[in-house]
Amino acid sequence: AGAYTFDPGFMATASCESKITFIDGDKGILLHRGYPIEQLAEKADYLDTCYLLLNGELPTAEQKAQFTDVIKNHTMVHEQLKSFFNGFRRDAHPMAILCGVVGALSAFYHDSLDNNNPQHREISAHRLIAKMPTIAAMAYKYSIGQPMMYPRNDLGYAENFLHMMFNTPCEEKPISPVLAKAMDRIFVLHADHEQNASTSTVRSVGSTGANPFACIAAGIAALWGPAHGGANEAVLLMLDEIGTVENVEKFLAKAKDKNDPFKLMGFGHRVYKNFDPRARVMKKTCDEVLAELGINDPQLELAMKLEEIALKDPYFAERNLYPNVDFYSGIILKAIGIPTSMFTVIFALSRTVGWISHWKEMLSGPYKINRPRQLYTGSVKRDIP
Ligand code: CMC
Repeated sequence: AGAYTFDPGFMATASCESKITFIDGDKGILLHRGYPIEQLAEKADYLDTCYLLLNGELPTAEQKAQFTDVIKNHTMVHEQLKSFFNGFRRDAHPMAILCGVVGALSAFYHDSLDNNNPQHREISAHRLIAKMPTIAAMAYKYSIGQPMMYPRNDLGYAENFLHMMFNTPCEEKPISPVLAKAMDRIFVLHADHEQNASTSTVRSVGSTGANPFACIAAGIAALWGPAHGGANEAVLLMLDEIGTVENVEKFLAKAKDKNDPFKLMGFGHRVYKNFDPRARVMKKTCDEVLAELGINDPQLELAMKLEEIALKDPYFAERNLYPNVDFYSGIILKAIGIPTSMFTVIFALSRTVGWISHWKEMLSGPYKINRPRQLYTGSVKRDIP
């Protein structure tokens, strides 16, 4: 007792065993259940990826059809849940709404919250995957004052999300297959990433025996920060701040200045010190989407210029700072027409399957409550005079 290692930021601590995701940060390798992320992005869609993460194998055609039906069966939320939205200010950040409303789901499913029952665990996983797009789109519609759209089960997963985001009861336009495909790819690329801050949070909360909706609400809260999932929103806010191409050098100097808290958002990664394999796929998707939409947006040009100049800068090269997944996803989301405040919500929606897969994996085997120790640096024992 008393002998433990001091590892701030958990730079060198494995907190669990897992069969879900493998990362080699030096070589830029990311595998889900053994499959490279590049192949999944190319050959699998988001629901295939969900099935894979949850069950360990890609689905057969029959399993996929069944899984799709199960997810569609759960896309609606209880009508009463709408009252939660009404309690928020109109200008509430959608992530604030998401944390609250997802946590509140635990109040609706008392029938299936026995963590020791594998069927209960599974139904909670399905409910979360199915309801996240609905809740995310409801948060957006609430913020712009439009009526909330019900899910449409004749549409694909990403297509249905874009339908609930952009259609109104007065006008239902078909969703562009290119945009639906790009959205689906964003979901796939964010689906899991082993023990990142939010997944570790979900495991930590789960290790106390808390219910899955509370665990995922905690994951959403952890994801919100700009050093984690909030980075995709922060990239666009940073581009706003930089303004024009002429200012790029000035902001790069700020990013390099150790006395200046400014960082180049969307650059750098705790694990990938070579490149982020997701960023490569994302950049390709980004080029395709911009070409397809024929978008001519000065902010997107600015992003491309920033990337070009930063990649040539020795400061970034010496520290192995490359654009990460959030740099390009922010740009694609903007091109699709998603408002900046929804970027991290979309990350949360995509990552839900990763969180719940880790939660399920933990509960399926032996585990202990997460209880790190500390190095106490406070006062020695003293007496009140
Ligand atoms: N801009 C300028 N300098 C940077 C940046 C940056 N974005 N990232 C790291 N550095 C510097 C840092 O100052 C340090 O320099 P020095 O060695 O001279 O002190 C060196 O690079 C190493 O960085 P670190 O802070 O020790 O690395 P970390 O592993 O603790 O942090 C990070 C990783 C992702 C939090 C950090 O790179 C960062 O804040 N990036 C910007 C935010 C961002 O894009 N986050 C999204 C991460 S990917 C999506 C996800 O999975 O969440």
